[in-house]
Amino acid sequence: MKSLAYFLLLLLLTAATAIQQQFYLPSLELSGADDGTGRAEAEAEQRIVFLLQYLASDYDRAVQHGQIIDSLEYGEMQRFSQQAAKSYAGGAAIQAQTREQLQALTGLIAQRASLQQIRQTCAALTAAITKEKNLLLFPQLAPNLDNGKALFRENCVSCHGLGGRGDGAAADTLKPPPRDFTDPARLNVCTPLQFYQAVTFGVEGTAMPAFAEAFTPEQRWDLAFYLMTLRRDFQALAPAVRCPLTLRQLATKNNLELTAILAQRQRLQRPDSTLLHSTLLLESCLDACRQNPPSLTMYEHLALAEKKLQQSLRAHLRADSAQAIQLAEEGYWLGFEPIESKLFSRVYLKFERAHTEYHWCLEEKGPPEQARAYVKTMLAILQHIRSQQGLRR
Ligand code: HEC
Repeated sequence: MKSLAYFLLLLLLTAATAIQQQFYLPSLELSGADDGTGRAEAEAEQRIVFLLQYLASDYDRAVQHGQIIDSLEYGEMQRFSQQAAKSYAGGAAIQAQTREQLQALTGLIAQRASLQQIRQTCAALTAAITKEKNLLLFPQLAPNLDNGKALFRENCVSCHGLGGRGDGAAADTLKPPPRDFTDPARLNVCTPLQFYQAVTFGVEGTAMPAFAEAFTPEQRWDLAFYLMTLRRDFQALAPAVRCPLTLRQLATKNNLELTAILAQRQRLQRPDSTLLHSTLLLESCLDACRQNPPSLTMYEHLALAEKKLQQSLRAHLRADSAQAIQLAEEGYWLGFEPIESKLFSRVYLKFERAHTEYHWCLEEKGPPEQARAYVKTMLAILQHIRSQQGLRR
């Protein structure tokens, strides 16, 4: 009975998703600020987003009902918000409004504002900075959780413990000790993105090292997605149909947000349905998605190809041809190639020809106008595919 209800729920949500993907696609901001200043700056922005996510998930450990309940945690909240404001203000292309909002956040923490206020501000800031800086803050391939598990066992258990409870052999010597990844109260307010960034940058003021050098971004996403499955009450029923959430949603939203999205979609689809109004079912649907994350959608693939090509062109224009070639290849292999089989051959052959010519142009350090023309051709083809497929933002 339970598995039948589950099957029906998934079917319903998948139908709703198909509609949603036609008309309300998640927007990948491609026209945002130029990030041609190089990778270092994008890294600074990513750190800011990390700090904001940390503030949002941990603020209630520091302040409750306007009172400081843990002065160490509170000090951390103050430090993180100041750091975020400072590094944003030190960046190249800054927006006055974002800067003010970051300063306001520091003020809110000083006033010991409510958790809700802090979370809203952090979410608004994260959205603004992601858009401004054109950050691609989600995996470009479906994460592999088996790989994540193997990496965790090799590299993390000495501190985090085999089950992730924070009870590794070295844990007693660490101050602060690692947190408990099995705790639902905490895990449900964390995102894979936040874990990805903790693994990338380390956690300042703790023993948590940075693994940016040790692992590829894919490996870090594998780990981050794996950590989400360590929750004590994690229960992924076998998925019957395609996951109704996108990879981007799974990477950047926490469990509370995602169950709310699923519940709302279900209400829109079938307001009268009583069978499916079970939170438990929604949660195991979400867990099934976390266990078997989907690949990018067609729209996300196209957007990724576009973005990489634009970045590649910018790299070429600043005479960084190694970078330009790498980005062009990534655009092809991560963005275009996975959807090629769904296209008419004359469309993809045209794209491939333009891509090959662009590649040679980069190899030969060809003139900017020529490179620009090839990229323009490719972007037009991608745009054409988008309208053919009825894909809209
Ligand atoms: C030397 C001990 C040590 C090792 C090795 C280590 N960690 Fe950590 N880790 C910590 C400590 C201490 C913290 C900070 C306390 C906390 O936030 O859990 C932390 C924090 C984290 C966080 C942020 C947790 C949160 O709840 O916000 C993540 C994610 C994480 N570690 C993942 C990993 C992964 C994945 C590995 C292996 C690739 C790893 N850690 C290896 C000690 C370690």
